[in-house]
Amino acid sequence: MTDANQNVEPRAPVDMTLADMTLADPGIHRCPFGYYAKMQEESPVHYDRHTDLWMITRYDDVVSAAGAWERFSSHIDMRRDVSNVDPTEADELFKRDGYFVEDVLSQVDPPRHTPFRRLVEKLFTGPAVKRMHDYLDTHVVELIDTFADRGRADFYHEFAVPLPVDVIADQLGLPRSDGMKLKRWTDAFIASFDATITAERKLECVKGILEFQKYFVTKRDEKLAQPGDDLLSMLVAARKDDGAPLTIEEYLALCAQLMVAGNETTRNVLLAGLHKLVTDPALQIRLRRSPELIPRFVDEMLRLEAPAQGLFRRCTREVTLGGVKLPEGAKVLLLFGAGNRDPRAFPNPDEVVLDRPNGNRHLAFGYGIHSCIGRTLATAELTIAFTRLLERLDDIRLAPDAPTPQIIPHFNMRGLDGLSIVFRKVS
Ligand code: HEM
Repeated sequence: MTDANQNVEPRAPVDMTLADMTLADPGIHRCPFGYYAKMQEESPVHYDRHTDLWMITRYDDVVSAAGAWERFSSHIDMRRDVSNVDPTEADELFKRDGYFVEDVLSQVDPPRHTPFRRLVEKLFTGPAVKRMHDYLDTHVVELIDTFADRGRADFYHEFAVPLPVDVIADQLGLPRSDGMKLKRWTDAFIASFDATITAERKLECVKGILEFQKYFVTKRDEKLAQPGDDLLSMLVAARKDDGAPLTIEEYLALCAQLMVAGNETTRNVLLAGLHKLVTDPALQIRLRRSPELIPRFVDEMLRLEAPAQGLFRRCTREVTLGGVKLPEGAKVLLLFGAGNRDPRAFPNPDEVVLDRPNGNRHLAFGYGIHSCIGRTLATAELTIAFTRLLERLDDIRLAPDAPTPQIIPHFNMRGLDGLSIVFRKVS
């Protein structure tokens, strides 16, 4: 039987025709890899009539499209172009109780993209992340120490959620005690991008986003009155190329993107990686014996379980990709998760192979001008986390009495809903 939650999916033969299949089918998006493989073989640039989306599935095509922002624009109105839910009610709530959600950074093309990118990217350079190494290591160990003596842990709530939330809270200069609020708001943003969201859930998300706005406006006032050595103070003080400060809408949108981009994604790779290790004890033993392989394991987990399986683009004109003509205005899903399992790029694509010559050329962090600003930070967090977990906890297994982890339903994001473990503490 194909277990939808296994990290490594067998290439299950798919007995439906492509025309009947869609990522909007919960069964398929829980385990999309057979669908991806079928599209790669039969229709690599595939029009899905159910969602009105063009699916780009082969590695080379995803790279070509992600690298051609002039033809594949990121300026998509997620609320109108992708969701089926009428956005009017949500727009009115934002107008009445908060701020319009401005398009910045990941949702805009040059020239608007460039100054935002410049502003944020300098904070996460290689040297900046290197300086964070001891701080990350200390925090990882602190988190493990909270449960190590117990011999069991709710890994989701005790490690995978707090680690990335604390890191981004610390960077932004927010108290760690606000971490759970930040997580709730991040989840609201992510859910609101789901192309299959219901109107009711959408309104719940809007309420979460309005709370987020109120909180970050208060923080802005605090940082203006008393600037610190943190990211939020830097954003509040920042000047655009024309010398003007960020508008409140731009500031809120940038805060949201930093929080959203870094939280759920890192959490999901922590969960996928540990789930892989508990279901593959031989790999666990191998990595414990050869920790120098952990960075390669991290890359393989990013490749196999990319949290952002696909992201949206819109064709600015008629475009030919992979021999297929896409019309002007076509809505496109760049399937990073499919490109990552394209056998043309990664032989034995469903297996963890620790000596791939191109192991770090996966697409989990995207490609092109929008590629992930937090890549170095996320990779450092993940590598330190798995290194310390394997060093301090032995024989990690799924807790036998806990529910089986399930993939959270979401059209284009991938992550587990929980993971409880038992282990022996290394003395
Ligand atoms: C495992 C963790 C992460 C994954 C898998 C991931 C994935 C991605 C992907 C796929 C994109 C490309 C978006 C596109 O092409 O439209 C992206 C962009 C971005 N990421 Fe990450 N990300 C991660 C962690 C982080 C962290 C920790 C931060 C911040 C501290 C961050 C900040 C950003 C930002 C700001 C962008 C937008 C860049 C732009 O549009 O120019 N990410 N990320």
